[in-house]
Amino acid sequence: MSSSSAATVGVKESSTEKRGLWSSRLAFVLAATGSAVGLGNIWKFPYITGENGGGAFVIVYLLCIAGIGIPIMMAEVLIGRRGGHSPINSMRLAAQREQLSKGWTIVGAVGVLAAFLILSFYSVIGGWAISYVGTAATGGLVGQSEEAIGAIFSGLLGDPATLLLWHTVFMALVIVVVARGVKAGLERAVTFLMPALFVLLLIVVGYAMTTGSFGRAVSFLFAPDFSSLTTAGVLVALGHAFFTLSLGMAVMMAYGSYLPKNVSIAKTAVTVSIIDTVVALTAGLAIFPIVFANGLEPGAGPGLIFQTLPLAFGNMPMGSLVGTLFFVLLIFAAWTSGISLLEPLVEWLEEQKGLNRTVSAVGAGIACWALGIVSILSLNVWSDVTPLGMFAMFEGKTIFDLLDFLTASILLPLGGLLVAVFAGWFMSRQALESELATSPGAFKLWYNTLRYFTPVAVAAVFVYNLL
Ligand code: TRP
Repeated sequence: MSSSSAATVGVKESSTEKRGLWSSRLAFVLAATGSAVGLGNIWKFPYITGENGGGAFVIVYLLCIAGIGIPIMMAEVLIGRRGGHSPINSMRLAAQREQLSKGWTIVGAVGVLAAFLILSFYSVIGGWAISYVGTAATGGLVGQSEEAIGAIFSGLLGDPATLLLWHTVFMALVIVVVARGVKAGLERAVTFLMPALFVLLLIVVGYAMTTGSFGRAVSFLFAPDFSSLTTAGVLVALGHAFFTLSLGMAVMMAYGSYLPKNVSIAKTAVTVSIIDTVVALTAGLAIFPIVFANGLEPGAGPGLIFQTLPLAFGNMPMGSLVGTLFFVLLIFAAWTSGISLLEPLVEWLEEQKGLNRTVSAVGAGIACWALGIVSILSLNVWSDVTPLGMFAMFEGKTIFDLLDFLTASILLPLGGLLVAVFAGWFMSRQALESELATSPGAFKLWYNTLRYFTPVAVAAVFVYNLL
């Protein structure tokens, strides 16, 4: 039906023109990369790899990126561009065009909720990075022993007031950019900062090569030992593929809605995914040699990079400078991701509730900031509180852990699964073909993966973990 008209669903038709588009394919790639590359690559990937035994986990993760992440990213961008509105309304329009139930709107809504929950604790970790800038810049890491570095980290976690201060600063940074609008704020932020972060990461890899444990780290990361991989680990790998590519919660839909029609969705999605994966693996190569050379525990958990990288900065030439720059750039990487986490909700508030952008950004940001306080307290005052501890699955999980689990392991894969089923089974093939505009062979490969492999794989991992 041709009544793809936005007016019929109560969305102002003019809003597409008013919103503006990315100025080029490069701009979209940069913004999407800015969203994808973040704490997930540098903070989370190394610590979950360490917790899950290394190589075998990495292989499963890479398979999830290729077989699940990339096809879903393409589907999300496609739906967003076709819809041209905020994720919730893009889903509604997409469903309406195919004469499907309004119920599909829920996909956008789940995404917006997940983004909000993630940002609440993401901002707290961003705050850790801010705090380390100060420590590194004042020479606080120079020549420190492993114990001293550990004490700096536990001192930070045990201090709710400091955590709150940096969490507040981080959230304020996110709110300011989102309030200014995606194009003005984002494009510029990403262009120089992402490459700079990568160069700094390579410098740390260079140092890591001198520790004598580089070979051991390479085999830890790339030589699979499947006996060390649990089924729970497979769920973590799957969830992380979604987390690191910013999938399953409508962020790529939101960004896709600004993508010009003549840009290839397939090429951009593959480019973004490759950059994201390379950054994560490079972070692994920077961190694990330091872990092994100093006899640290690879499974140390969320504090891993904050206990290992400072050791490197404390012992390498010009370490205070390199360390300061590194944490500054980590903040930028987290910042561009944080922006993408707030954007979907703000876009929706603007469009649906008719609020202006500044009011939406400030309101949503403050609500998210308030929720973040719960995560802060669960690191210290409530560190023994495990609300769902009576279930074996959640034993020992603090509120912080539960938020991470609920979002990364449940909501994101679920959102992704629904996107795959929607695009693969409910949207018309012609619509998909015309939107993607790739070669017939490439289209078939994507279409079949999205229809058969992706949903079955995601569902299988879920069911297996529940049983
Ligand atoms: N991908 C980001 C990271 O790796 C986090 C992130 C940003 C995200 N936007 C997202 C995760 C949307 C899931 C969905 O740090």
